[in-house]
Amino acid sequence: MKGRFITIEGGEGVGKSTNIECITDRLERAGIEFVLTREPGGTPFAEKIRSLLLENHDEAIAEMTELLLIFAARAQHIAQVIAPALAAGKWVVSDRFTDATYAYQGGGRGLSSESIAQLETLVQGSLRPDVTFLLDLEPEVGLERASQRAALDRFEQEQVEFFNKVRSTYLQRAKAEPARCVIIDAGASIEAVQADILAHLERLL
Ligand code: TMP
Repeated sequence: MKGRFITIEGGEGVGKSTNIECITDRLERAGIEFVLTREPGGTPFAEKIRSLLLENHDEAIAEMTELLLIFAARAQHIAQVIAPALAAGKWVVSDRFTDATYAYQGGGRGLSSESIAQLETLVQGSLRPDVTFLLDLEPEVGLERASQRAALDRFEQEQVEFFNKVRSTYLQRAKAEPARCVIIDAGASIEAVQADILAHLERLL
């Protein structure tokens, strides 16, 4: 039996970690075997690519370089972690996946969705998430939360206009694929957000 593939998406500071914990707690209680992972990263080698992507560099990083590094990390993550887990019947819960590429590299950086779609097909074949939770929040609120956590990484240093484009691309994609994507109002109380997520998760259990 093939496991289910769940992804969690959203801008900066939307509360992904807390809500992922709520999902994995529910899976544990249901006795479902799962792998919790993240992108970019998820394997030792892919985590090295993640560091390259998030660190600041003296040299400007070309948008295409960034895109290819993200898909390089993804290819490794799929080969080492996602595909084997799903094939073994385990569920996979990933903190971000390819919707983030459409939102950040497409919406934010302005790369064409056609280029992203080509790489998506090349790297993933037919692999797509079964369910995606999009935590939606005003970028100003999320960035304020993110800025209180740690030093800002290369993405977090972008201006609010970048994150407005990230947000609108995420929403556009989620609305275009309502069977897969669940839009969660991440500005609501934590209780309301988690109740919303759990109600949708029940459908899969
Ligand atoms: P996070 O740990 O906050 O999710 O940080 C990962 C950063 O990487 C975040 O700023 C979004 C960015 N990112 C992309 O730009 N494209 C992608 O495809 C993925 C998975 C992440």
